[in-house]
Amino acid sequence: MEHGLAVLPTAPEHARNRDSHYPYRYDSYFYYLTGFREPEAVLVVVAGDTTKSILFCREKDPEREVWDGFRYGPDAARSMFGFDEAYPVRQLDEMMPQLLSNQPALYYHLGSDGEWDARLMRWVNEVRGRARTGVTAPQTIRDLHAPLDEMRLLKDASEIELMRRAARISTDAHRRAMRAAKPGIGEFAIEAELMHEFRRNGAQAPAYTPIVASGAHACVLHYVENADVLRDGDLILIDAGCELDGYASDITRTFPVNGRFSGPQRDVYDLVLSAQQEAIAEIKPGSPWIAPHDAAVKVLAQGFVDLGLLKGSLEQVLETESYKQFYMHRTGHWLGLDVHDAGDYKRDGDWRQLEPGMVLTVEPGCYIRPGSNVPEHYAGIGVRIEDDALVTASGCEIITGAAPKTIADIEALMRP
Ligand code: GLY
Ligand code: MN
Ligand code: MN
Repeated sequence: MEHGLAVLPTAPEHARNRDSHYPYRYDSYFYYLTGFREPEAVLVVVAGDTTKSILFCREKDPEREVWDGFRYGPDAARSMFGFDEAYPVRQLDEMMPQLLSNQPALYYHLGSDGEWDARLMRWVNEVRGRARTGVTAPQTIRDLHAPLDEMRLLKDASEIELMRRAARISTDAHRRAMRAAKPGIGEFAIEAELMHEFRRNGAQAPAYTPIVASGAHACVLHYVENADVLRDGDLILIDAGCELDGYASDITRTFPVNGRFSGPQRDVYDLVLSAQQEAIAEIKPGSPWIAPHDAAVKVLAQGFVDLGLLKGSLEQVLETESYKQFYMHRTGHWLGLDVHDAGDYKRDGDWRQLEPGMVLTVEPGCYIRPGSNVPEHYAGIGVRIEDDALVTASGCEIITGAAPKTIADIEALMRP
């Protein structure tokens, strides 16, 4: 960062309905830099000949703490979290014009919250209004997220350790779900098994709304109702991962409700698994971001032809992109504090290269919607297999490998 001042508010609380709030989740950028989890907090960083970190947060309030629980207050926050200075957040409007005076640049993420944008502009205008006293207002406003995105993309040792722990809890949850599944029970009951395993291991929340999609629901990519009942002979697709101390895991497994894959289910499942294996082989330093996706698409496209789902040659299917009828999403995304994590996928127009310390998902699938013009025994089958990969010096480490995914391993785990 060049000389200047950065302002980074954490996320607001959100009301769910009268007197009831959604569980609070801090802003990922704010948390990345501070580790501070309370709402109503703002980080200010002054970068120049001397640098300084300043936290604005809620004051101690014995009466509110009776209702809402402990809050640090500025003094304890400063010493516990290592800020240079800390002040009550109610002093923010009063102090900011002073802090912004004579700063050449303001670093801030404009555009994500209109009220904050307006508040910052008021501060800047206040400084401009004092021009006759000899102070200058920031001449430039620069995006704060851009440099932080690059930092967040490369995980350090403690982040990697946390992500391994989150992955472990989530793989245990998927194993638990496989053991619990049987015809007649609700998708919601399987969701409850996942949540039970997350919470009993200390994960604060699911990293995203779990998808528990039996039968043809698996062909709806964002199915989250989880309201149906598991039926004998169907597959069930579960896309669920916990968030542990802010870090996400993201796993999908697909398995038979009754513990045994049928012939057509095997065909589709093994195709998706080989697409995933080919994609994983491309995850290594120096590979372009798109290489795992391209590898998966190639395997899937050939498979769609071989299974009679698509007509034409492999080249035609790739050229016309007819494979998108059954595989319409990308094979992965960055993973970290956000499930779709920060970080560019391209640089100067080219796919960026993988580097050790990056974490990405690898999640090919095949979704054959009922009513598709395909051999009848494949209609209604939806399969996705998703793991989380840490790029290492020599290739990658699949940190979610403890959730079974070969047909033999899944059937062995589900055997009564
Ligand atoms: N669970 C969200 C995703 O797989 O991208
Ligand atoms: Mn994913
Ligand atoms: Mn997922």
